[in-house]
Amino acid sequence: MAKDAIVSDEMAKKFATEKDTPYLRWVRAEGLDIIGAHYVQNLRTVELKDWARRGGKGIYINHEASRTSNDCYVCEIAPGKKLEPQRQLFEEMILVLDGRGSTTVWNDEGKRITFEWQAGALFAIPLNTWHQHFNGSGQQPARFVSVTNAPPVINLYEDIDFVFNTAHDFKTRFAGEPDYFSNKGEQKGLLLETNLVPDAVNLPLITAKERGAGGGHIRFNMAKGSMNSHISQFPIGTYKKGHCHGPGAHVIILSGEGYSLMWPEGDEPKRYDWEVGTMIVPPNMWFHQHFNTGKTPARYLAFKHEVVSVRNAQGVPKAWISRRIGGDQIDYADESTLVRDMFSNELSKNGLTPAMDEAYKTELESLPPKAGA
Ligand SMILES: [Fe+2]
Repeated sequence: MAKDAIVSDEMAKKFATEKDTPYLRWVRAEGLDIIGAHYVQNLRTVELKDWARRGGKGIYINHEASRTSNDCYVCEIAPGKKLEPQRQLFEEMILVLDGRGSTTVWNDEGKRITFEWQAGALFAIPLNTWHQHFNGSGQQPARFVSVTNAPPVINLYEDIDFVFNTAHDFKTRFAGEPDYFSNKGEQKGLLLETNLVPDAVNLPLITAKERGAGGGHIRFNMAKGSMNSHISQFPIGTYKKGHCHGPGAHVIILSGEGYSLMWPEGDEPKRYDWEVGTMIVPPNMWFHQHFNTGKTPARYLAFKHEVVSVRNAQGVPKAWISRRIGGDQIDYADESTLVRDMFSNELSKNGLTPAMDEAYKTELESLPPKAGA
């Protein structure tokens, strides 16, 4: 069902007008390169162009559904420089990739807060607040990656001046609280409500056995926004269960080494190698599976939006539920031998062996029976 489904040019022409959206017209007019999101080997070194409107350098990264869902860009601030102030009627989540600096956020009422960040920091811009980013170093550039929900907002209003220049304080999102970016979060189950994580690379996580192999997990709600994000970590010699979901999950490697497999149902899995700074954005309903082949735990951050999560009637993401009962997660017991063989081979190159026996055994204790078995 998730193959490319390419049809004739004649049929495609009938939908050509609908394929374009106000967001796509706007993003082209920004004058930057727009690259496909599927796999970016390293966000920290991807080539950027001068970005007149922002006052830095940038590149847009669009996945197959960015025309209507969420988008991504990388931006760099030159040593000793700052970006232009901006406000916007869409939400934005930011991970600092390199360097250090600060951001000032203010509203129309005149409440103003400045906070500092460095590589590994994670934060969100409160809706429609003015904000300005400053590079704190005179020698090194500062680079960050953002995921936003600009596409549906620009598509809805189709008025760029309105989206970027409307005076309104959303006070339930930000009212100038002095401790707004003070790294005080409230943990509710797996969900941490916070506005700033100073060091996402070393943040303590919560155990989440549902995704396999004793991984750590934490979910974020930042700046009271509607988009979400999470961090997953998995131990040495382990890999996660394969699963699929909707488009727009931007997975960024924070630490460790390994690879991901991605494939549409019925195709052979394809391999995408990682390093710190790699981004993988699995296409709509493509299966994907992440493997740690290094000598340290591997950790990634995923920036998402609600449409990514296809949920069951109880509200549980189907990507967390076994395919045996109608979910979208492949149990270890049902994966192809190719998956295990490749993992074992890759580990051996680092002098390691799989540490999966415990996870396989634990899974069997609660595995639903196969349909027809
Ligand atoms: Fe996923």
